[in-house]
Order: sequence, then structure tokens, then C-alpha cells
Amino acid sequence: MAHPVYGLNELREMFLSYFESKGHLRLPSFSLIPHNDASLLLINSGMAPMKTWFTREEEPPRNRVCTCQKCIRTGDIENIGKTARHGTYFEMLGNFSFGDYFKKEAIPMSWEFLTEVAGLEADRLYPSIYEEDEEAFEIWNKDMNIPAERIFRFGKADNFWEHGPGPCGPCSEIYYDRGEKYGCGRPECTVGCDCDRYIEIWNNVFSQFVNDGEGHYEEMTNKNIDTGMGLERLAVASQGVASLFDVDTVMHITNKVSEITGAHYEESDKTDVSLRVITDHIRSSVMMICDGVLPSNEGRGYVLRRLLRRAARHGKLLGVDGPFLYKVVATVAEVNKAAYPDVAEKEAYITKVVRTEEENFLKTLDAGMKIYTEMLAAHKAENKSLFSGADAFKLYDTYGFPLDLTAEMLEEEDMQVDEAGFRELMEQQRVRARKAREALGDVAWAGIDLGLDTTPTLFTGYDHNTDSGTVLAIVAEDELRDAIVKGAEGVLVLDKTPFYAEMGGQVTDHGTISLNGAVFAVQNVQKDKAGKFLHHGVMESGELKKGDAVTSSIDVERRQAVRRAHSATHLLDAALKKVLGDHVHQAGSLVEPDRLRFDFTHFSAITAEELSKIQRLVNDEILAGLNVGTQELPVEEAKKLGAVALFGEKYG
Ligand code: ALA
Repeated sequence: MAHPVYGLNELREMFLSYFESKGHLRLPSFSLIPHNDASLLLINSGMAPMKTWFTREEEPPRNRVCTCQKCIRTGDIENIGKTARHGTYFEMLGNFSFGDYFKKEAIPMSWEFLTEVAGLEADRLYPSIYEEDEEAFEIWNKDMNIPAERIFRFGKADNFWEHGPGPCGPCSEIYYDRGEKYGCGRPECTVGCDCDRYIEIWNNVFSQFVNDGEGHYEEMTNKNIDTGMGLERLAVASQGVASLFDVDTVMHITNKVSEITGAHYEESDKTDVSLRVITDHIRSSVMMICDGVLPSNEGRGYVLRRLLRRAARHGKLLGVDGPFLYKVVATVAEVNKAAYPDVAEKEAYITKVVRTEEENFLKTLDAGMKIYTEMLAAHKAENKSLFSGADAFKLYDTYGFPLDLTAEMLEEEDMQVDEAGFRELMEQQRVRARKAREALGDVAWAGIDLGLDTTPTLFTGYDHNTDSGTVLAIVAEDELRDAIVKGAEGVLVLDKTPFYAEMGGQVTDHGTISLNGAVFAVQNVQKDKAGKFLHHGVMESGELKKGDAVTSSIDVERRQAVRRAHSATHLLDAALKKVLGDHVHQAGSLVEPDRLRFDFTHFSAITAEELSKIQRLVNDEILAGLNVGTQELPVEEAKKLGAVALFGEKYG
């Protein structure tokens, strides 16, 4: 080979030190879970965690930064294992300029790194530019002495980088020619061809616009540089290997998969695809779990579930019986020791999560496969080549088959799945679930127009057990009334109240609203959208009228019992996190005077030992007799003091 060969871990270090020597601040990889960015499920590029530095909504720590960022992209999942260059998990090397240097400096640095530091042959490298970017052309052609015929011009689809809303711009990519033996052999094969001969290794984005997410571009005042180079692809070029699965560190994992499954690499195309899918997916899964993702049916958790289940099925294709992916976790941790030591630190935990998901899946897989086979036979009997969306949905909903798993199995039968039909059923299910949620949260008398403005009721219950108030509206026997008389059920709306309304699973205060001899017994309190407190109950004696100045008193003993249970919820949450891990998230709870229920997500059943540990922690805290106080603070200040909002509850 004409150039030096470097290991993947070496190349990472070479890149970061090179850019450090050019004045860049080296930062560790950000988590795969985006922070404050709802537009992305998972970090997919080096720049994604830095969007606010590009737009200057936040100050970057320095105007030159370099990173090696963990990334997940599942858009090309069907290509994994079939091409040399696709992976759902990869590391992206990047140098970034926030209003500092621009094209004239970025292009020479990328060229110097590739040719002088990594030692790749200049005559195998080809730049491409955005078709209208004459400035970039001049730099490549005049400053870097690259002949015009070696500089390729591409349109917006290829050479304008953007990913949803955020910073974007025209770009200049650098391709590496791996030689004829990797080509498709077509006469027109050249830079930009879909085959594996010319691989794009580096992308220099001249990040100068912000896309508002609806296709409007605004020029930023500062011009930025955002570059991205796939570390695995660079290693493919450096090591002169056939694919990213043959790169030193990745091969280590492929070998382990091969050892466990007994399938040999490079014996048949089909086996190779399965080995590579498993290798790729276990890499992604381990890194995701390490960063706090757990398998679930939604969002990131679903991406993870899909990857693990897809890998598990490819294990089945290779003839493996029972769970096996979990055995690969240690190898993934091992090859990542240098850059990501936390993987090894969490190895036992990650192994457990993978194994549990595999076991759960294998249980349903067998049952599901039986149903699938029947469904398939029925389709064939009717000569259908389109598998029904309803059947695919049933496999998903009842047997946990991700859609792409069904589609992939059907591909083996030369059939397709009715994706639109499937999606429609998914949507219907979402709507049903939302309606059910809304119905639960609905106020019984909400349909009745109370004829009030939207000023919220003033809640004084933090420091008052009894308070005065004015009756603003009365609903009695399901109708808006001016008065409520003895025996009637109804709702009183007050301008001010010490009654706690139902929120976050905590039951409401009970008590009375009274005036002279008239007493309304409060049994439930809800808050409507405007923040008006609706006191539901029964008129026990006398009569109350609209406009009456009343006295509201809560049942103090009951309130205290509820508060004890509420505090216990927080102690329980903390204890669960301590014993089971930070991934424990509250999924719901109920707090009553004499009991509490706490729903949370965890990947396996709690053992008796864990349970007694949790119990001990909670009881110790109770016995410590800590002071519990109430302070009303703006949300930000409360967070500074360490306040925890449970399950995304919107606290004012
Ligand atoms: N953000 C650019 C990319 O991901 C560098 O290709």
C-alpha cells in the first residue's frame, strides 16, 4: 500500500490533536440524546448539539472547536451490511468555526490533514463543490492547485447540507477513490456514483443560513464552518479494507459475533449481511443504552427496540437459539475503552438491558412467527403481493414486530407491505390514546359555559387552611344557576381558594365552603384550562348564591395525610433511581391519604433484594425526620435548588 496505515483510535486522536494545534478547543462527544432540541430524536452529526452556538443564541466556549461525536442515523437501515459504507452508528470527526475562519482556511486545513497527517494519496482524493459556489472552486483550483477536471460540481441535493431546522449551507465534499476493484464497472462510474468505489469521507459545510423548519432561509450575521468526517470511513481509506465492518475495532466486534453465532465471515453474502447487521446494530444499541435510552414503543426507545429486534432476528437467521446479543456488549465496551470509558463502566447494566429485550422479543417472536406464517399463507392463497396493513399492524401491536421487520421478511417472499394502511391504523391508535387521555383529564362540567373571564383562581392553600372567597359561578344539577340549595350536587367556582386541585396524581383536598348556616361539602377539586378552581360537591345545608362572600376550609388531617404520601412519592422516586438506575422514570402516580401508587419504567422485574433495599432507603429517610417545607418559586429558581418535576408534569 502506498500510504501509512492507522488504527481507528489513532486516527481519532490524530484528527483532534491536529485541530487543537490549529487553535481549536477539543470537546468530548456530546450524549446521543439531544438536549433541548425537540426536532431530533438522536444526535446525527457533529454540529447537532452545537446549533445554538452557530446561531449565537448561546456563546460557544471558543470560536474554534473540534470534536469526535457519537452519531446515529437510521435512514439507510436497509442498506446496512449491503454496502461498504453505511452504518447506523458512527463517529463523526468535526472542526467548527463560529464566526471565525471560513472557506479560505477550512479547505486547506482539511486537505492538509488528509494528505500530510493521515497520509492519504492526493491523487486519490477528489473535491466536490456546490454548483454555484465559484469561491470554493477558486480555492480548490487556484490555492490548492487541483485541476478543474478533478473538481466535481453537484446540485442542492448533494452539496447543500441541512437536517431539518437549524444552521445549514452549501458544502464541499472530499471523495476518496478506493480503486477499480470496488467499482460497479459501468463506464459512467465516477465521483458521485452510488457504488462503493468513490466514498465521500469529508464534508465541509459553509454554514451561513438558518432554516426555520418551514423552508425559509435567513442569512446569519456570522459565517460558520461545520465539517464532518466519518471516522470509520476515514479508517476504511487508511486501512485499505473492504468495508467499515473490516476496520480494526469494528472487525473485533464482527469476529465476536461470528464466534458466538458460529457463522463464518466471508463465506456467503447472506451470512455476511446478517453478521454485519448484528455488528452494526449492537454497536448502536450499546452506545444508546449507555447514554440512557431504554427500549420502548415510542421515540428513541422505539429506534433502540427496532435495532435490537432486527439484530435478534438476524441471529435467528444464522441459526442461533436464545438470546446472544448481550454477550457482545463486553467487546463493544472493550474497543471503546480509549474514547468512551463509560461504556465499560456501565457494561453490566447495558448487558442486562440487552438481554431482557432479547428475551422478551424471543418470547413473542415464536408466537408471532406462527401468526405471520398463517397470514402469509392466506395472502398467497389469494395471490396477493401486497401484505395487508391491518395484519402488519396486528403483528406490531400484539407481537412486537417492528414494521421494517415484517417488511424485511416479506422481501424474502418478493412481497411488500401496505405501509400506508399500517400508518393509518397507527394514527387511529394514537388518536384513540389521546382521546382516552383527554377524557381522563376532562372536567365533568366543562361542557357548560360558566360565563366567566379567564382570570385564574388565586390559590392560597400553601399558607392557609381557611380563607375567604367570593362565589363567581354555580353549577347545580348540571345547569348554570344563580343559587344552589340543600341536597343538590354541583360545582362552585371561587375567586380565591385554599383547596388543592387534582394535579400530578395527587388527590384533592376535601372540606367545606360555608356562609352562616349554609354548608357545601367539597369532595373533589379540578382546575380548568383557564386555571379556575372547580369545587365539586354537595350542598349539605342551607343555600348559597352567586356573589356570596364565603369561607372555605380544608380538612387539615386529610391534607396532612396526603402530603405525607406525596413526600413519600419523592423519596420512593429517589430510592428507585439509586437502586435500579437513573433510567427509572415515573410514568404515573396516585397519592391518597392512606396509600400511594407509583408507576415507573424499568426493564425487568424487581428482585426481592432490590425491593428490600428500596424499602430501607425510604424508611431511613422518613425516620431521619427531615424538614419538609413549602416554597413557591419561579420554575427556573426551583430547578436551581434541585427541584425534580416528575414525568414531564407542567408545573407553573
Ligand atoms: N454537518 C455535516 C454533515 O453531517 C458536516 O455532513
